[in-house]
Amino acid sequence: MEGQPDWYIGLMSGTSMDGIDAVLVGFGPEGIEASWQTSRSYPDNLQSKLEELASNQGTPSLLGEADAQLGDAFADAALAVTEKAGLTPEAIMAIGSHGQTVQHRTESPFPFSLQIADPNRIAEITGITTVADFRRRDIAAGGQGAPLAPAFHSWLFRSPGRMRCLVNLGGIANITLIPGDKRPPRGHDTGPANRLMDLWCRRHQGHPFDYNGEWAASGTVCAPLLASLLGDAYFSRQPPKSTGREHFNEHWLERHLSTLPDAPRPEDVQRTLLELTAVTVTRDISITGAEEVFLAGGGAFNPPLAERIAALLPKVSVDSTAALGVDPQSVEGAAFAWLARQRLNNAPGNLPSVTGAFEPRVLGGVWPGRAGNLRY
Ligand SMILES: Nc1ncnc2c1ncn2[C@@H]1O[C@H](COP(=O)(O)OP(=O)(O)O)[C@@H](O)[C@H]1O
Ligand SMILES: [Mg+2]
Repeated sequence: MEGQPDWYIGLMSGTSMDGIDAVLVGFGPEGIEASWQTSRSYPDNLQSKLEELASNQGTPSLLGEADAQLGDAFADAALAVTEKAGLTPEAIMAIGSHGQTVQHRTESPFPFSLQIADPNRIAEITGITTVADFRRRDIAAGGQGAPLAPAFHSWLFRSPGRMRCLVNLGGIANITLIPGDKRPPRGHDTGPANRLMDLWCRRHQGHPFDYNGEWAASGTVCAPLLASLLGDAYFSRQPPKSTGREHFNEHWLERHLSTLPDAPRPEDVQRTLLELTAVTVTRDISITGAEEVFLAGGGAFNPPLAERIAALLPKVSVDSTAALGVDPQSVEGAAFAWLARQRLNNAPGNLPSVTGAFEPRVLGGVWPGRAGNLRY
């Protein structure tokens, strides 16, 4: 329809495993014209299956079952956001589904990244053409397969003459550096963000996450623990690099805790994990000349974390993407809506300057919708 934006849905479930984000984006000639967002929790017993798989346990049948069950949940989330926007599935060009990462192993002799949430079921249930499996082509082309959002960040947030940095504070943190000139964007995973804080909070407080960082704020940084954590070789490696819970997990934290002569108080560990994220993110930004930093992802809602990031970058303005009119919770989902649009336009989705791939590549497979929605 003339004058109507092209509607795409992005579906995202990140390493925090806090649920599914569905973002419906209207792309017009001038950029994003409208968007809606909804978050859904996982259906009963799915979270524990996902945790098991992500810990490299579970059988092939558990993997297959979780893939199907999550596909259904992703489809429900897509339909929910469509209804919220007052649209029908026929109006949607395509869904871009990131899926749920169960393993991301780019250091393996046969590097791979495995996401589940069966796109056949998403296309069948919603009727909407579905694009999925975004990461593996980049890896096949010599890249890390991650982070993939930087191409979208740079498309959306580029500001002529200003070097901007977008920080996504998900389970893992990643940064995108967007020069204000023709230079290509850069970016990488900086290390852990919410994932370890969530784990520690669940274990000691029984809550899925540290609401507003209040518990962390009640503690003090344990300097020997911070020094030990910062000694991890990942932090000093040069990009391109990406990571996940295969490396930064409870065993990693336990190993570092066990080297200390005295066990720190739990709230001090929480505060130290927050500091670890703030230090690793800002160290990587401070050497780049970025003038403006914008925070997205769930960690953007953690005030002590945002304050520490701002304090460690005294010469830089630090804000959330809300200041640019984009809900921090929507950014990663919107990136996969954009990647689906790139796929349908046969345009590249990766940035070799970020992932290390040999060349730009068209990313993702296409699962056609039902009659009336056969967009490809
Ligand atoms: N109000 C809040 N206070 C502190 N942390 C929050 C808040 N809201 C969200 N978070 C954190 O954000 C995480 C989810 O972030 P998200 O961007 O969805 O990560 P992922 O992409 O890994 O799923 C939660 O697990 C939690 O740790
Ligand atoms: Mg999430």
